[in-house]
Amino acid sequence: MLRRLSVVLIALCLTACGVEPEPTQTIEEQAAEAKTLFWEVFNAGAYERIPEAQTKLLAVYEQDQTLGENAMLLGVSYYWYAAEWRRDLSRPNSGQYEAILNTDKYLTVALELRPNDARIMCWLGGAKTFRSQVERKPALMDEGLALIDKCATLYPSFGLILKGFVSSFLPVQSDLYQEGISAMWRNVDVCIDKEIDRTNPDFTSYMHLTNNLSGQYLACWNGPTAPHNLEGFWFFMGDVLTKAGHKEQAKAIYNNALLVPDVQKWVFYDKLTARIATVDQRAELYSDSDMKNDPPMVTQDTFQCVLCHQKQ
Ligand code: HEC
Repeated sequence: MLRRLSVVLIALCLTACGVEPEPTQTIEEQAAEAKTLFWEVFNAGAYERIPEAQTKLLAVYEQDQTLGENAMLLGVSYYWYAAEWRRDLSRPNSGQYEAILNTDKYLTVALELRPNDARIMCWLGGAKTFRSQVERKPALMDEGLALIDKCATLYPSFGLILKGFVSSFLPVQSDLYQEGISAMWRNVDVCIDKEIDRTNPDFTSYMHLTNNLSGQYLACWNGPTAPHNLEGFWFFMGDVLTKAGHKEQAKAIYNNALLVPDVQKWVFYDKLTARIATVDQRAELYSDSDMKNDPPMVTQDTFQCVLCHQKQ
């Protein structure tokens, strides 16, 4: 009788509880399952499935707040959710701000648990700079930039691009925008262990380096978690240079993405070729006094995370 009751209960639970974890799973098993789901969703670029992955990550978090990777993925899932908010313009902007507050909350916990993980400093720093704009608190901007600087010192090949990311919204003349440009050049330098020629940054002669994913080089090239990191990097750097009016550099930098094998199969290939074809026009629009006609940078569009992370 008891046995039958439990069968009925399990059957009920399977239909009613939906995503509830199986009671027999250990917390580690649940965390592993949540992580697998997160990566499945992220690498597919399936933005609309973020809540599904978050439900699983959150269920783990609520049972055990000492699992650093789980807290990190939960926080970063909110960062993705906020970053690509413009995918659905019918939603109020307050939802984006709430997602940033959750990013801050879970990444703060994650950083306490993994104090040496520079990537968490970068993402958390990004969340704080965003908050500073909404809440109009300059102190949060300083806090965010300090975290990103620390990240870029500990893990330059990963962190320097973040400086470009968070300053890309600002006017080109601002110190921060200019620092963002030089950080991106240094990001290239740290990946090739020499200073790339700023006047002719053609990457052909460095492509043989792109198989080495050891240590810091993991964040330089295409790897398991960011299968289109290199194309995405050139794409974004091209945008940063175009906005600054450095047209010839921008063209060379965008063109570097075309050196990646099989780039034609990349989901964002058409966007890349469209960028290459319109550098002059877009630079013109950025340079006039009307900011409303500025074309969106990657960081203001709907694919700023999946650019590097979506497999196909
Ligand atoms: C220019 C390419 C690029 C963009 C754009 C990018 N990432 Fe990444 N991301 C990387 C690289 C490279 C790594 C691997 C570095 C490492 O794990 O050490 C990474 C790692 C990650 C990880 C891995 C953590 C783990 O468990 O290994 C997550 C999660 C992540 N990024 C989320 C995001 C989100 C969210 C965004 C958008 C706000 C984003 N990324 C934008 C390149 C990118």
